[in-house]
Amino acid sequence: MTELELLIDFHMNAQRQGPGSTADTLRALSFISLVGKKTLKIADIGCGSGAQTIVLAQNTKSHITAVDLFPEFLDRLSDKAEGLGLQDKITTLEASMDDLPFGKEEFDILWSEGAIYIIGFEAGIKKWRDYLKPGGYLAVSEITWLTNKRPKEIEEHWKSEYPEIDTASNKIRLLEENGYSPVGYFFLPEKSWIDTYYAPMEERFAAFLERHGNSERARDIVDGEKDEIRKYKKYKDYFSYGFYLGKKQ
Ligand SMILES: C[S@@+](CC[C@H](N)C(=O)[O-])C[C@H]1O[C@@H](n2cnc3c(N)ncnc32)[C@H](O)[C@@H]1O
Repeated sequence: MTELELLIDFHMNAQRQGPGSTADTLRALSFISLVGKKTLKIADIGCGSGAQTIVLAQNTKSHITAVDLFPEFLDRLSDKAEGLGLQDKITTLEASMDDLPFGKEEFDILWSEGAIYIIGFEAGIKKWRDYLKPGGYLAVSEITWLTNKRPKEIEEHWKSEYPEIDTASNKIRLLEENGYSPVGYFFLPEKSWIDTYYAPMEERFAAFLERHGNSERARDIVDGEKDEIRKYKKYKDYFSYGFYLGKKQ
């Protein structure tokens, strides 16, 4: 198996593919004044197996287009949606977030948890704005510095992983410069990293290694995740995911 195939196998049966929780999705939704007023057209970009898609479908009058590059995740979401009787509210779409087949001003809400970093925050908010109706909302979570200064190890790690990492004030300024009025911001609490993401992940390590004959590639993936967990636990006061809510001007 290639590294990509292994990564998909590792994450595919997880409840979530990144930090977050039902409470965070609902908190972000609470900033959007359109909710409850009409049937909303929502796109959930980089949806993974759809933890947040399901929460959105259960808590809004809406139709959701759930987009991911990998069909394995979309199949998991379709199974879950069917099991919950939500199949009429969710359509899955295999597409890349930098080349979405969406029309101009098609959506009321663009949602993306833990995924906009793939296209890059600034490129994403610029490109996706076209798909939003005037007065529509963008809701994205993005890795964010919680302090103005931080220890060298974590500064260097994130600068090499994702040079666009920044403080919330700088991300909010980017939203303003690109035609959004900021309507909300909060950062994910520790339990949204540990309880819903890293703890269930740690429980999958042994079975994953066994499934792949303890291969070097599989061990590299597990070691990489363990190092990420170590860094999070050591430096959690310095970074988290920020959740940003912007209204298209
Ligand atoms: C960190 S995960 C977040 C998944 C989900 N939103 C969650 O929070 O559980 C990022 C997701 O983006 C998807 N992805 C990666 N590259 C993509 C691309 N170019 N276009 C669309 N989705 C992509 C991955 O398959 C993965 O499901």
